[in-house]
Amino acid sequence: MKILVTGGTGYIGSHTVVELQNKGFEVLIVDNLSNSSAEIVDNIEKITGTRPVLEVFDLVDREKTADFFQRNNDIAGVIHFAAYKAVGESVEKPLMYYRNNLVSLMNILESMRDNNIQNLVFSSSCTVYGQPDELPVSEKAPIKKAESPYGNTKQISEEIIQDTIKASDIHGIALRYFNPIGAHESALIGELPLGVPNNLVPFITQTAIGIRDQLKVFGNDYPTPDGTPIRDYIHVVDLAKAHVIAVDRMIQDKMKKPFEVFNLGTGKGYSVLEVIKAFEKVSGLKLNYKIVGRREGDVIQVWADPSFSNRELGWKAEKGLEEMVASAWKWEQAYRKKLADKQ
Ligand code: NAD
Ligand code: WQD
Repeated sequence: MKILVTGGTGYIGSHTVVELQNKGFEVLIVDNLSNSSAEIVDNIEKITGTRPVLEVFDLVDREKTADFFQRNNDIAGVIHFAAYKAVGESVEKPLMYYRNNLVSLMNILESMRDNNIQNLVFSSSCTVYGQPDELPVSEKAPIKKAESPYGNTKQISEEIIQDTIKASDIHGIALRYFNPIGAHESALIGELPLGVPNNLVPFITQTAIGIRDQLKVFGNDYPTPDGTPIRDYIHVVDLAKAHVIAVDRMIQDKMKKPFEVFNLGTGKGYSVLEVIKAFEKVSGLKLNYKIVGRREGDVIQVWADPSFSNRELGWKAEKGLEEMVASAWKWEQAYRKKLADKQ
Protein backbone atom coordinates (compact mmCIF):
# COMPACT_ATOMS: atom_id res chain seq x y z
CA MET A 1 0.00 0.00 0.00
CA LYS A 2 1.39 3.34 -1.09
CA ILE A 3 0.85 6.37 1.15
CA LEU A 4 1.66 9.95 0.22
CA VAL A 5 2.98 11.95 3.16
CA THR A 6 3.10 15.68 2.39
CA GLY A 7 5.49 17.52 4.67
CA GLY A 8 7.11 14.15 5.34
CA THR A 9 10.58 15.56 6.03
CA GLY A 10 9.11 17.85 8.73
CA TYR A 11 8.84 17.19 12.44
CA ILE A 12 5.61 15.20 12.75
CA GLY A 13 5.74 13.96 9.16
CA SER A 14 9.15 12.29 9.55
CA HIS A 15 8.04 10.43 12.67
CA THR A 16 4.92 9.31 10.86
CA VAL A 17 6.91 8.05 7.87
CA VAL A 18 8.93 5.88 10.28
CA GLU A 19 5.79 4.39 11.85
CA LEU A 20 4.19 3.81 8.42
CA GLN A 21 7.27 1.99 7.21
CA ASN A 22 7.43 -0.02 10.43
CA LYS A 23 3.94 -1.25 9.55
CA GLY A 24 4.93 -2.17 5.99
CA PHE A 25 3.46 0.78 4.09
CA GLU A 26 5.36 2.14 1.10
CA VAL A 27 5.86 5.87 1.55
CA LEU A 28 6.17 8.71 -0.94
CA ILE A 29 7.10 12.09 0.52
CA VAL A 30 6.39 15.45 -1.08
CA ASP A 31 8.03 18.42 0.61
CA ASN A 32 9.40 21.74 -0.64
CA LEU A 33 11.99 21.75 2.17
CA SER A 34 10.84 25.21 3.29
CA ASN A 35 11.12 24.07 6.91
CA SER A 36 13.10 20.83 6.75
CA SER A 37 16.05 19.21 5.06
CA ALA A 38 16.44 16.36 2.56
CA GLU A 39 18.94 14.69 4.93
CA ILE A 40 15.98 13.56 7.03
CA VAL A 41 15.41 10.85 4.42
CA ASP A 42 18.88 9.41 5.23
CA ASN A 43 17.96 9.33 8.90
CA ILE A 44 14.60 7.69 8.24
CA GLU A 45 16.48 5.04 6.25
CA LYS A 46 18.90 4.54 9.17
CA ILE A 47 15.97 3.94 11.52
CA THR A 48 13.79 1.71 9.35
CA GLY A 49 16.19 0.25 6.77
CA THR A 50 13.95 1.57 4.00
CA ARG A 51 14.45 4.77 2.06
CA PRO A 52 11.23 6.62 1.33
CA VAL A 53 10.95 8.34 -2.05
CA LEU A 54 11.18 12.13 -1.73
CA GLU A 55 9.91 14.51 -4.40
CA VAL A 56 10.78 18.14 -3.78
CA PHE A 57 8.22 20.66 -5.02
CA ASP A 58 5.75 23.20 -3.73
CA LEU A 59 2.18 21.93 -3.32
CA VAL A 60 0.95 25.45 -3.97
CA ASP A 61 1.97 24.79 -7.58
CA ARG A 62 -1.20 23.40 -9.11
CA GLU A 63 0.38 21.94 -12.24
CA LYS A 64 3.20 20.20 -10.40
CA THR A 65 0.73 18.79 -7.91
CA ALA A 66 -1.57 17.54 -10.69
CA ASP A 67 1.38 16.00 -12.52
CA PHE A 68 2.58 14.24 -9.36
CA PHE A 69 -0.83 12.70 -8.71
CA GLN A 70 -1.22 11.59 -12.33
CA ARG A 71 2.09 9.76 -12.10
CA ASN A 72 1.13 8.24 -8.74
CA ASN A 73 -2.57 7.50 -9.10
CA ASP A 74 -2.17 4.21 -7.24
CA ILE A 75 -1.78 6.00 -3.89
CA ALA A 76 -4.06 4.43 -1.26
CA GLY A 77 -4.12 7.42 1.05
CA VAL A 78 -2.73 10.90 1.65
CA ILE A 79 -1.53 12.21 4.99
CA HIS A 80 -1.31 15.95 4.61
CA PHE A 81 1.12 17.65 7.00
CA ALA A 82 2.61 20.28 4.69
CA ALA A 83 1.78 23.73 6.04
CA TYR A 84 3.33 26.74 7.74
CA LYS A 85 2.77 26.61 11.49
CA ALA A 86 4.22 29.62 13.30
CA VAL A 87 1.38 31.45 15.02
CA GLY A 88 3.23 34.78 15.45
CA GLU A 89 4.53 34.80 11.89
CA SER A 90 1.01 34.20 10.60
CA VAL A 91 -0.13 37.43 12.27
CA GLU A 92 2.69 39.31 10.47
CA LYS A 93 2.19 37.56 7.11
CA PRO A 94 -1.42 36.42 6.90
CA LEU A 95 -1.57 36.13 3.11
CA MET A 96 1.53 33.95 3.04
CA TYR A 97 -0.21 31.60 5.50
CA TYR A 98 -3.56 31.56 3.73
CA ARG A 99 -1.93 30.95 0.37
CA ASN A 100 0.42 28.20 1.52
CA ASN A 101 -1.93 26.32 3.82
CA LEU A 102 -5.16 26.65 1.84
CA VAL A 103 -4.01 26.56 -1.79
CA SER A 104 -1.87 23.46 -1.16
CA LEU A 105 -4.87 21.71 0.40
CA MET A 106 -7.16 22.68 -2.49
CA ASN A 107 -4.61 21.45 -5.04
CA ILE A 108 -4.33 18.13 -3.23
CA LEU A 109 -8.10 17.67 -2.98
CA GLU A 110 -8.55 18.52 -6.64
CA SER A 111 -5.91 16.00 -7.68
CA MET A 112 -7.33 13.36 -5.36
CA ARG A 113 -10.77 13.83 -6.91
CA ASP A 114 -9.38 13.75 -10.45
CA ASN A 115 -7.43 10.55 -9.81
CA ASN A 116 -10.06 8.80 -7.70
CA ILE A 117 -7.91 8.78 -4.56
CA GLN A 118 -10.31 8.76 -1.67
CA ASN A 119 -8.53 8.83 1.66
CA LEU A 120 -7.20 12.00 3.30
CA VAL A 121 -5.81 12.38 6.81
CA PHE A 122 -5.44 16.04 7.73
CA SER A 123 -3.27 17.71 10.42
CA SER A 124 -5.58 19.89 12.44
CA SER A 125 -4.97 21.44 15.82
CA CYS A 126 -6.45 21.98 19.26
CA THR A 127 -6.11 25.65 18.43
CA VAL A 128 -9.58 25.36 16.80
CA TYR A 129 -11.10 25.11 20.31
CA GLY A 130 -9.54 28.37 21.56
CA GLN A 131 -10.14 28.57 25.32
CA PRO A 132 -12.81 25.88 25.70
CA ASP A 133 -15.75 26.45 28.04
CA GLU A 134 -15.44 22.93 29.42
CA LEU A 135 -12.41 20.81 30.21
CA PRO A 136 -11.35 18.29 29.14
CA VAL A 137 -12.26 19.32 25.60
CA SER A 138 -14.03 16.77 23.41
CA GLU A 139 -14.48 16.77 19.65
CA LYS A 140 -18.03 18.06 20.20
CA ALA A 141 -16.84 21.33 21.73
CA PRO A 142 -17.66 24.41 19.67
CA ILE A 143 -15.06 25.88 17.35
CA LYS A 144 -14.06 29.31 18.66
CA LYS A 145 -13.10 32.29 16.53
CA ALA A 146 -9.46 31.75 15.57
CA GLU A 147 -6.86 33.78 17.48
CA SER A 148 -4.50 33.92 14.50
CA PRO A 149 -4.45 33.51 10.72
CA TYR A 150 -2.63 30.21 11.32
CA GLY A 151 -5.46 28.93 13.51
CA ASN A 152 -7.94 30.20 10.95
CA THR A 153 -6.23 28.16 8.20
CA LYS A 154 -6.93 25.02 10.26
CA GLN A 155 -10.61 25.93 10.72
CA ILE A 156 -11.06 26.84 7.05
CA SER A 157 -9.17 23.72 5.96
CA GLU A 158 -11.56 21.50 7.91
CA GLU A 159 -14.46 23.28 6.17
CA ILE A 160 -12.88 22.95 2.72
CA ILE A 161 -12.41 19.23 3.34
CA GLN A 162 -16.00 18.76 4.53
CA ASP A 163 -17.46 20.63 1.55
CA THR A 164 -15.32 18.63 -0.87
CA ILE A 165 -16.36 15.37 0.77
CA LYS A 166 -20.03 16.29 0.24
CA ALA A 167 -19.40 16.81 -3.46
CA SER A 168 -17.09 13.84 -4.18
CA ASP A 169 -16.10 10.31 -3.15
CA ILE A 170 -13.32 11.62 -0.92
CA HIS A 171 -13.29 10.69 2.78
CA GLY A 172 -11.42 12.61 5.42
CA ILE A 173 -10.13 12.31 8.96
CA ALA A 174 -9.05 15.47 10.76
CA LEU A 175 -6.68 14.80 13.63
CA ARG A 176 -6.63 17.65 16.13
CA TYR A 177 -3.24 17.58 17.82
CA PHE A 178 -2.69 19.05 21.24
CA ASN A 179 0.97 19.98 21.96
CA PRO A 180 3.37 17.58 20.22
CA ILE A 181 6.83 17.40 21.79
CA GLY A 182 9.74 14.96 22.02
CA ALA A 183 11.65 12.99 19.42
CA HIS A 184 12.26 9.47 18.14
CA GLU A 185 14.24 7.31 20.60
CA SER A 186 17.09 6.97 18.06
CA ALA A 187 17.61 10.77 18.26
CA LEU A 188 18.02 10.68 14.47
CA ILE A 189 14.87 12.72 13.85
CA GLY A 190 13.23 15.42 15.97
CA GLU A 191 11.98 18.98 15.99
CA LEU A 192 14.16 21.49 14.16
CA PRO A 193 12.81 24.99 14.63
CA LEU A 194 14.24 27.59 12.26
CA GLY A 195 15.71 30.50 14.22
CA VAL A 196 14.39 31.31 17.67
CA PRO A 197 11.85 28.68 18.76
CA ASN A 198 8.30 29.80 19.56
CA ASN A 199 7.39 26.64 21.39
CA LEU A 200 8.22 25.80 24.97
CA VAL A 201 10.16 22.55 24.76
CA PRO A 202 12.60 23.48 21.96
CA PHE A 203 13.23 26.73 23.84
CA ILE A 204 13.98 24.76 27.01
CA THR A 205 16.41 22.37 25.30
CA GLN A 206 18.14 25.19 23.38
CA THR A 207 18.56 27.14 26.63
CA ALA A 208 19.96 24.10 28.40
CA ILE A 209 22.49 23.48 25.62
CA GLY A 210 23.57 27.13 25.66
CA ILE A 211 22.14 28.50 22.41
CA ARG A 212 19.65 30.69 24.30
CA ASP A 213 20.57 32.61 27.46
CA GLN A 214 17.36 32.26 29.32
CA LEU A 215 13.84 30.88 28.95
CA LYS A 216 11.13 33.46 29.45
CA VAL A 217 8.10 32.02 31.21
CA PHE A 218 5.16 33.97 29.86
CA GLY A 219 3.16 34.82 32.96
CA ASN A 220 2.57 33.20 36.37
CA ASP A 221 -0.60 35.07 37.24
CA TYR A 222 -3.05 32.78 35.44
CA PRO A 223 -5.90 31.14 37.39
CA THR A 224 -4.12 27.75 37.50
CA PRO A 225 -2.60 25.98 40.54
CA ASP A 226 0.92 27.41 40.02
CA GLY A 227 -0.15 30.42 37.94
CA THR A 228 1.35 29.19 34.63
CA PRO A 229 -0.74 27.96 31.67
CA ILE A 230 -1.61 24.31 31.25
CA ARG A 231 -1.31 22.26 28.05
CA ASP A 232 -1.74 18.65 26.99
CA TYR A 233 1.75 17.67 25.78
CA ILE A 234 1.84 14.55 23.64
CA HIS A 235 4.86 12.54 22.47
CA VAL A 236 5.37 12.86 18.71
CA VAL A 237 5.76 9.08 18.32
CA ASP A 238 2.36 8.50 19.97
CA LEU A 239 0.96 11.08 17.58
CA ALA A 240 2.65 9.43 14.58
CA LYS A 241 1.15 6.05 15.48
CA ALA A 242 -2.35 7.53 15.45
CA HIS A 243 -1.83 8.57 11.82
CA VAL A 244 -1.03 5.02 10.80
CA ILE A 245 -4.20 3.83 12.51
CA ALA A 246 -6.27 6.60 10.92
CA VAL A 247 -5.07 5.94 7.37
CA ASP A 248 -5.53 2.22 7.86
CA ARG A 249 -9.08 2.81 9.15
CA MET A 250 -9.87 4.61 5.90
CA ILE A 251 -8.27 1.99 3.67
CA GLN A 252 -10.08 -0.81 5.55
CA ASP A 253 -13.39 1.05 5.09
CA LYS A 254 -13.99 1.25 8.83
CA MET A 255 -15.08 4.88 8.99
CA LYS A 256 -18.48 5.54 10.55
CA LYS A 257 -19.04 8.64 8.41
CA PRO A 258 -17.21 10.30 5.51
CA PHE A 259 -15.65 12.99 7.72
CA GLU A 260 -14.36 12.13 11.16
CA VAL A 261 -12.55 14.21 13.74
CA PHE A 262 -10.32 12.90 16.52
CA ASN A 263 -8.50 14.61 19.35
CA LEU A 264 -4.91 13.49 19.76
CA GLY A 265 -3.86 14.23 23.31
CA THR A 266 -3.04 12.36 26.50
CA GLY A 267 -5.93 13.75 28.53
CA LYS A 268 -3.49 15.13 31.11
CA GLY A 269 -2.51 18.77 31.43
CA TYR A 270 0.81 20.10 32.70
CA SER A 271 1.78 23.66 33.58
CA VAL A 272 4.83 25.41 32.17
CA LEU A 273 6.59 25.08 35.54
CA GLU A 274 5.80 21.35 35.66
CA VAL A 275 7.40 20.91 32.23
CA ILE A 276 10.49 22.79 33.42
CA LYS A 277 10.67 20.64 36.58
CA ALA A 278 10.37 17.44 34.54
CA PHE A 279 13.16 18.67 32.27
CA GLU A 280 15.40 19.51 35.25
CA LYS A 281 14.77 16.08 36.72
CA VAL A 282 15.60 14.05 33.63
CA SER A 283 18.58 16.20 32.57
CA GLY A 284 20.03 16.78 36.03
CA LEU A 285 20.47 20.45 35.04
CA LYS A 286 19.18 23.68 36.52
CA LEU A 287 17.38 25.63 33.82
CA ASN A 288 17.94 29.38 33.62
CA TYR A 289 14.45 30.87 33.41
CA LYS A 290 12.67 34.06 34.36
CA ILE A 291 9.00 34.88 34.80
CA VAL A 292 7.96 37.68 32.45
CA GLY A 293 4.63 39.11 31.27
CA ARG A 294 1.95 37.09 29.50
CA ARG A 295 2.25 36.30 25.79
CA GLU A 296 -0.60 37.70 23.73
CA GLY A 297 -3.09 35.13 22.51
CA ASP A 298 -2.15 32.36 24.99
CA VAL A 299 -5.09 30.38 26.34
CA ILE A 300 -5.09 29.69 30.08
CA GLN A 301 -5.52 25.96 30.00
CA VAL A 302 -6.51 23.22 27.59
CA TRP A 303 -6.32 19.48 27.66
CA ALA A 304 -8.00 16.80 25.61
CA ASP A 305 -10.73 14.36 26.24
CA PRO A 306 -9.14 11.57 24.17
CA SER A 307 -11.81 8.97 25.03
CA PHE A 308 -13.41 9.02 21.57
CA SER A 309 -10.02 8.44 19.90
CA ASN A 310 -9.14 5.79 22.46
CA ARG A 311 -12.38 3.94 21.80
CA GLU A 312 -12.85 4.41 18.06
CA LEU A 313 -9.23 4.23 16.92
CA GLY A 314 -8.10 1.77 19.58
CA TRP A 315 -5.25 4.22 20.16
CA LYS A 316 -3.90 5.66 23.37
CA ALA A 317 -0.93 7.94 24.05
CA GLU A 318 1.53 5.87 26.07
CA LYS A 319 4.47 8.11 26.88
CA GLY A 320 4.55 10.34 29.95
CA LEU A 321 5.96 13.82 30.42
CA GLU A 322 9.42 12.78 31.66
CA GLU A 323 9.91 10.43 28.72
CA MET A 324 8.80 13.21 26.36
CA VAL A 325 11.23 15.82 27.64
CA ALA A 326 14.04 13.26 27.99
CA SER A 327 13.67 12.34 24.31
CA ALA A 328 13.64 16.02 23.31
CA TRP A 329 16.82 16.57 25.33
CA LYS A 330 18.54 13.51 23.83
CA TRP A 331 17.67 14.76 20.34
CA GLU A 332 18.93 18.30 21.03
CA GLN A 333 22.26 16.95 22.31
CA ALA A 334 22.68 14.50 19.41
CA TYR A 335 21.81 17.16 16.85
CA ARG A 336 24.22 19.75 18.27
CA LYS A 337 27.00 17.15 18.48
CA LYS A 338 26.46 16.24 14.83
CA LEU A 339 26.67 19.92 13.84
CA ALA A 340 29.86 20.39 15.89
CA ASP A 341 31.44 17.26 14.37
CA LYS A 342 30.76 18.60 10.87
CA GLN A 343 32.76 21.78 11.54
P1 NAD B 1 7.08 21.19 10.07
O1 NAD B 1 7.28 22.61 9.63
O2 NAD B 1 8.20 20.52 10.77
O3 NAD B 1 6.65 20.29 8.82
C1 NAD B 1 5.90 20.78 7.76
C2 NAD B 1 6.61 20.38 6.46
O4 NAD B 1 5.84 20.84 5.36
C3 NAD B 1 7.99 21.01 6.33
O5 NAD B 1 8.93 19.98 6.04
C4 NAD B 1 7.85 21.99 5.18
O6 NAD B 1 9.06 22.10 4.43
C5 NAD B 1 6.70 21.40 4.39
N1 NAD B 1 5.90 22.36 3.61
C6 NAD B 1 5.32 23.50 4.05
N2 NAD B 1 4.65 24.08 3.05
C7 NAD B 1 4.80 23.30 1.95
C8 NAD B 1 4.34 23.37 0.61
N3 NAD B 1 3.61 24.40 0.17
N4 NAD B 1 4.68 22.38 -0.25
C9 NAD B 1 5.45 21.34 0.16
N5 NAD B 1 5.91 21.22 1.40
C10 NAD B 1 5.59 22.19 2.30
O7 NAD B 1 5.76 21.18 10.97
P2 NAD B 1 5.17 20.02 11.90
O8 NAD B 1 5.32 20.46 13.32
O9 NAD B 1 5.67 18.71 11.50
O10 NAD B 1 3.63 20.16 11.55
C11 NAD B 1 3.01 19.33 10.60
C12 NAD B 1 1.54 19.70 10.50
O11 NAD B 1 0.93 19.56 11.78
C13 NAD B 1 1.27 21.13 10.06
O12 NAD B 1 0.12 21.13 9.23
C14 NAD B 1 0.97 21.85 11.35
O13 NAD B 1 0.16 22.97 11.16
C15 NAD B 1 0.24 20.76 12.12
N6 NAD B 1 0.28 20.92 13.57
C16 NAD B 1 1.50 21.07 14.19
C17 NAD B 1 1.55 21.24 15.57
C18 NAD B 1 2.86 21.44 16.28
O14 NAD B 1 2.86 21.95 17.40
N7 NAD B 1 4.00 21.06 15.70
C19 NAD B 1 0.35 21.25 16.31
C20 NAD B 1 -0.87 21.09 15.65
C21 NAD B 1 -0.89 20.94 14.27
C1 WQD C 1 3.18 26.29 25.58
C2 WQD C 1 3.19 27.07 26.87
C3 WQD C 1 3.42 29.45 26.60
C4 WQD C 1 7.46 29.46 25.00
C5 WQD C 1 1.21 26.35 19.86
C6 WQD C 1 0.21 26.82 18.84
C7 WQD C 1 -0.84 25.77 18.64
C8 WQD C 1 -0.21 24.41 18.32
C9 WQD C 1 0.86 24.05 19.29
C10 WQD C 1 -0.07 24.18 15.94
C11 WQD C 1 2.38 28.36 26.81
C12 WQD C 1 4.61 28.87 27.33
C13 WQD C 1 6.25 29.03 25.51
C14 WQD C 1 8.34 30.23 25.82
C15 WQD C 1 6.74 30.07 27.62
N1 WQD C 1 0.46 24.45 17.06
N2 WQD C 1 5.90 29.34 26.80
N3 WQD C 1 7.94 30.49 27.11
O1 WQD C 1 1.07 28.12 22.46
O2 WQD C 1 0.18 25.98 23.50
O3 WQD C 1 0.54 26.11 21.07
O4 WQD C 1 1.80 25.13 19.41
O5 WQD C 1 -1.22 23.97 15.66
O6 WQD C 1 -1.64 26.21 17.61
O7 WQD C 1 -0.39 28.01 19.31
O8 WQD C 1 2.50 26.02 22.54
O9 WQD C 1 4.84 25.54 23.09
O10 WQD C 1 4.22 27.84 22.23
O11 WQD C 1 3.53 27.18 24.51
O12 WQD C 1 6.42 30.35 28.79
O13 WQD C 1 9.40 30.66 25.41
O14 WQD C 1 4.55 27.49 27.12
O15 WQD C 1 3.06 30.69 27.18
O16 WQD C 1 1.78 28.53 28.05
P1 WQD C 1 1.01 26.66 22.47
P2 WQD C 1 3.85 26.64 23.03
